[in-house]
Amino acid sequence: MAISRSYLLVRYKYSVLGQRLYSSMSDKRGLVLGVYSTDGQDDVRLTKFAQKYNESTSGKLLEQIKICGPISSGSARIYWDLGKYPAVAVAGLGDASKWDELDEINGVKENVRIAAAAGVRALSACKIGTIEVEDLEDAEAAAEGAGLANYKFQEYKNKEKQTSLPTVALAENNSGSEEWDKGSILADAQNWARKLMETPANLMTPTIFSENVKTKLASLNVDVQIYDEEWARVKQMGSFLSVTNGTKEPAKFLEITYKGDNSADKCIALVGKGVTFDSGGISLKPSASMDQMRADMGGAANVAATIYALARQKVPVHVKGFIPLCENMPSGTATKPGDVVFAMNGKSICVDNTDAEGRLILADALCYASTFNPLFILDIATLTGAIKVALGDCVAGVFSTSNKLWEQIHEAGYESGDRVWRMPLFKHYSDQMCDHNGYDLNNLGKGKGGGSCTAAAFLRQFVDKETPWLHVDIAGVMGDCSDQSYTGSKGMTGRPMRTLVQFIKKAGS
Ligand code: BES
Ligand code: ZN
Ligand code: ZN
Repeated sequence: MAISRSYLLVRYKYSVLGQRLYSSMSDKRGLVLGVYSTDGQDDVRLTKFAQKYNESTSGKLLEQIKICGPISSGSARIYWDLGKYPAVAVAGLGDASKWDELDEINGVKENVRIAAAAGVRALSACKIGTIEVEDLEDAEAAAEGAGLANYKFQEYKNKEKQTSLPTVALAENNSGSEEWDKGSILADAQNWARKLMETPANLMTPTIFSENVKTKLASLNVDVQIYDEEWARVKQMGSFLSVTNGTKEPAKFLEITYKGDNSADKCIALVGKGVTFDSGGISLKPSASMDQMRADMGGAANVAATIYALARQKVPVHVKGFIPLCENMPSGTATKPGDVVFAMNGKSICVDNTDAEGRLILADALCYASTFNPLFILDIATLTGAIKVALGDCVAGVFSTSNKLWEQIHEAGYESGDRVWRMPLFKHYSDQMCDHNGYDLNNLGKGKGGGSCTAAAFLRQFVDKETPWLHVDIAGVMGDCSDQSYTGSKGMTGRPMRTLVQFIKKAGS
């Protein structure tokens, strides 16, 4: 086809113009403001900060908003050239009283997270390079929502094809910068956990994970020890080591210490499952969605990110993290179904199914954590598909031997918006794991159903009776969650890291 010179010229001009338009847009500043609304009615109420901004526009902003009526929670509308900022996104804060009590969530905070995210996404879609967000009457929650929405995993994409993300900050002349900073740290930490989980398993091996954690925490007041397989052998961690038998990737064990409170003798122990890829081993998983198992180190990511956030916020607590890291692969040297292994506390375990490997690595990590005589132990793991069947993708399951700790973590989930739900630790489940095959334990329950409960019952065998303990099963909230618009519905989530931080602040003080 013959193309005329003038056509080419026009194309050229458009592309140049397009480019110029793009770059000038990205230099622009945008502002996110909030507006409350009662759905279905014509009633709109601006936040205090937005009211002031409205005054600076001689009331034009509110007039414009009213033309189209209330802005609902989760939406944002952009107004151009109204006042000091070229672009103003007005985000809906909804009506917090609409949250049902049974939703067990702080609706005021949650609405702020949702609104901040909607505002940031709207301006970001218009290539606004610098976005300022008002405090939305809860600067911490605003920073969480804004920071979590301003995340994209694109590390390994051609640089030119990467989407540039805007800079997000608290609005100029807005009070609440301390609270904003706290929220930004939480969002940053959770985004780090998301990245660790999302990264493909060949680029996030136990060795790479360990180095990442060491580098990230080195600049803070945090000690990271990376132990090797020989160390684990000396400690007689036969259960942990049995999982790494089928891979060439060396297993690692991290011991992380953050002592933000020098007067606290006892530490809080956090234990995180770090299976950097779970193929199932000889009990091989089906291939569909097996790639998701790159995130089977979500517990480990949560522990590392929680300590990172606590250290950055300089929270006065003494926390230790214990992270067993390995791959679960099939090979001629892999553990076979029916093999018997011995944990650090001497208990014999019959490995009925090599895909129930999380509990095997956690068993030894729990024994090791117990040797520090901690205040309490919390383990967190993408442990069972059964928890997703039970609870779906909006809440993590918690098993606890302590009512008080349960109440505290439950309350933390209410505040953070990343909720937890209590699950049972009945003797019935323990009976299903113990003594039915000539060994102390089996790694599969003998009953039908209740897979998350039998897994928890198994773990309980490796915690001192005197040490209060919580087990958090996060397989359901690991990835592609549909309940939190600010975290997005696709990809690995890093959940429920903010709940852990909130909980430790309470429980450790
Ligand atoms: N890592 C999986 C659990 C999992 C499943 C996490 C789906 C995230 C999403 C775990 O190691 C596993 O394979 N568990 C088995 C246990 C079974 C063999 C008793 C499961 O849930 O099927
Ligand atoms: Zn498995
Ligand atoms: Zn697993």
